[in-house]
Amino acid sequence: MRVVVTGAAGFIGSHVVDALSGAGHEVLAVDAPGRSLAPDVARRTWAEVAARPGVVAAEADLAVDELNAVVAADVVVHLAGRPGVRDSWGAGEAIAERDNVRATRRLLAACLERPAGQRPKVVVASSSSVYGSAGRRPNREDDRLSPASPYAASKVEVERLTGLAAGGGLRTVLLRYFSVYGPRQRPDMAFHRFVEAALDGRPLPVFGDGRNSRSFTHVRDVVAATLAAAAEDLPPGIAVNIGHSEHVAVRDAIAMLTDALGVQAEIQRETPVAGDAARTWADTGRARDMLGWTATADLAEGLADQIAWHRGRRAVPEEVGVG
Ligand SMILES: NC(=O)c1ccc[n+]([C@@H]2O[C@H](COP(=O)([O-])OP(=O)(O)OC[C@H]3O[C@@H](n4cnc5c(N)ncnc54)[C@H](O)[C@@H]3O)[C@@H](O)[C@H]2O)c1
Repeated sequence: MRVVVTGAAGFIGSHVVDALSGAGHEVLAVDAPGRSLAPDVARRTWAEVAARPGVVAAEADLAVDELNAVVAADVVVHLAGRPGVRDSWGAGEAIAERDNVRATRRLLAACLERPAGQRPKVVVASSSSVYGSAGRRPNREDDRLSPASPYAASKVEVERLTGLAAGGGLRTVLLRYFSVYGPRQRPDMAFHRFVEAALDGRPLPVFGDGRNSRSFTHVRDVVAATLAAAAEDLPPGIAVNIGHSEHVAVRDAIAMLTDALGVQAEIQRETPVAGDAARTWADTGRARDMLGWTATADLAEGLADQIAWHRGRRAVPEEVGVG
């Protein structure tokens, strides 16, 4: 199978490329590392991804560049974009519009321009943030969307465009990822910040009081779900939650993390982030029924896995790599 992965220099994308390369697929890895929230990290990951067997790396900015070659595939896994609620306020709103909305609109249009029999299936990354906060039960895919930040609003628009493309004859599936963690997690994300602070002997920077809870989902599970979505025959345009069935409070996750690190870390409370959900909680029924997928990684074990990655990365000089 020929698979295109956009956002291949990113956290989730690099793991998807690793899995596809390992399974012997022909992969076109696409990214514009300069568009990343952390361009230096993306550039190092990009060099590693490009060296994987069966992988061709092509730098392309989906918001402006010619996309004919990008859409000549059996499947496009579209993970490129500007993630993050916090950074989407202020100047970040235009970036989310450019790299999430415009990039996706152009990619879907290029797919639709191909002759009917040659259009790829497109797996599109969305986010749990489209729901806003979960209430007393987990969010189901047909719940009303309630975006509370420019990032979440950009993903709602990405979903609308993906639905339109499905109506126009493109096989699409939307994956609503829930707080992904594990090796190579983005430097702006909570566990990455906590582990780095703890290893430096600094207080852990926590937004709010730590009562917020998340369906934390290990990247290994996320990759398995993404590959299942690429392979299964699904109703065009359908959205599927990709999240762990349990939600865990940030402060409880911190307790697991400091336990695994063997440190007693101080907490430095920071102002809560506007638009950050109090709780995200995935209903996992559709993923189970349609993809045969359930998240299996236990949070304590998954955190140990991420900590080992941070430690390994510190042991290796920067220029050698981040993998
Ligand atoms: N990590 C999570 O917990 C999470 C949760 C929900 C949704 N998502 C979504 O999953 C996708 C991947 O997330 P991630 O955490 O791996 O992010 P990431 O920032 O690590 O990866 C995104 C990649 O997209 C690239 N990119 C950005 N704009 C581009 C453009 N115009 N053209 C080409 N490449 C571009 C960046 O360079 C980066 O390497 C994103 O769409 C994100 O919104 C992630």
